Amino acid sequence: MPPITHIEELRRLAKKRVPRMFYDYADSGSWTEGTYRANEADFQRIQLRQRVAIDIARRSTRVQMIGIDATMPVAIAPTGMTGMQHADGEILAARAAERFGIPFTLSTMSICSIEDIAANTRAPFWFQLYVMKDRGFIERLIERARAANCSALMLTLDLQVLGQRHKDIRNGLSAPPKPTIANLINLATKPRWCLGMLGTKRRSFGNIVGHAQGVGDLSSLSSWTAEQFDPALTWADVEWVKKRWGGKLILKGIMDAEDARLAADSGADALIVSNHGGRQLDGAPSSIAALPAIAEAVGDRIEVWMDGGIRSGQDVLKAWALGARGTLIGRSFLYGLGAMGEAGVTRCLEIIRNELDLTMAFCGHTDLRAVDKGILLPGTY
Ligand code: GLV
Repeated sequence: MPPITHIEELRRLAKKRVPRMFYDYADSGSWTEGTYRANEADFQRIQLRQRVAIDIARRSTRVQMIGIDATMPVAIAPTGMTGMQHADGEILAARAAERFGIPFTLSTMSICSIEDIAANTRAPFWFQLYVMKDRGFIERLIERARAANCSALMLTLDLQVLGQRHKDIRNGLSAPPKPTIANLINLATKPRWCLGMLGTKRRSFGNIVGHAQGVGDLSSLSSWTAEQFDPALTWADVEWVKKRWGGKLILKGIMDAEDARLAADSGADALIVSNHGGRQLDGAPSSIAALPAIAEAVGDRIEVWMDGGIRSGQDVLKAWALGARGTLIGRSFLYGLGAMGEAGVTRCLEIIRNELDLTMAFCGHTDLRAVDKGILLPGTY
C-alpha cells in the first residue's frame, strides 16, 4: 500500500473497514448537516499570506495547553463509542497521543473505561463529563477520574438535548450492534473489524454499564440519552462540578460571546468554541466563524480553544491565528483509528503536524507562539 499522506485517505479507508452504523455515527451531522459542512468549508475560505526570504530554518510547533506541554496545539477530542470504530479504540488512540506528546480526552460515552485508559497509558489524560440526572453517578465518575489521575475535567455544555441525526436513527445505532439481517450482512464485509471485536471484551459503554444504576444491560445510546442527559443543566451545576472536581476545568460547547463571558466568570481554565462537530444545533455558525468574537471577548481571561472541521495542520494554524490557543480533533483521528488502529491515529497526527509546520514556514514563521492574525489575508476571515 502506498504511504497515506492526507486525512481524506484515512477517511476513505475507514469507510471501507468500519461497519456502516459506526462510520455513519462518526461521519454525520444533525438535520441538514449544514453546520457540519460549514465547519470544514469555512476553513477553506480563509487565505494565507505567503512570505519569502525569511530565515525559517529552525521551527517549533510546541505550545502549552492549560499549562500542559504539547508538541502542537492539538488534543484528541472526546468522541462517543470510539471503541466501536476499532476494537479497544480509546486505548489505542490514547497510546498514540501519549507517544506523540499531545493530550487525549476520554468521553463519558466511551467503550473503554476510565480505568482501562489509566491501566494502559502513563501520561495523565483528560476526562470529558456529561451532566446526567443521576448526580450520584456523576459524583462517582468524578471520583473515578480523580483516582485515574486525570489532569483535567472537560465538561460538555451543549448536549442537554440530543440533535437529531437521521443516519443513527435509520441504522438503529447501538453498541454492540444488534444481530439484525442488515447488520449481519454489513458485518460480513468487515472481517478485520469483526476479528478485532472477537478479541476484546470491551463492546459496550465501559464507564456506564455496571456503574450507573439500572443500566447493567445498556444497549442503546439513544435510550440512555433520552433518559439521563439533563436538560435542566445551568451554570449552578458548572459551579457544583468545579467544586467537586477541584482541578483544571475545561468547558466545551460555547458558541456565543455572552456565554463565553459567563464561562470566564465561572473560573474555568479553558473554554472550547464548539458546535459539537455540527451534531447538535444545525443552523449554528461554524466554529471557526464563531471563534474571533469569542477570543476577542474573553481571550485575556480564559484560554480559548476550538474544535469542528479540523482536517489539516493548515486548519490548526488558521484557528491559532484567530485566537485559539488549542484545538481538538474528533473525526480526523477517528478516520485514522477506523482505517489502521493505533498506527492510523499516529499517521493522522504526523500528517497534521507536518502540514502545520510547513504552512507556518511558508507564512514566514519559526515559532507558532509568535503567529497571529497577520498571517491571514485580510477580507478572507
Ligand atoms: C456525543 O457526544 C455525540 O455527539 O454523539
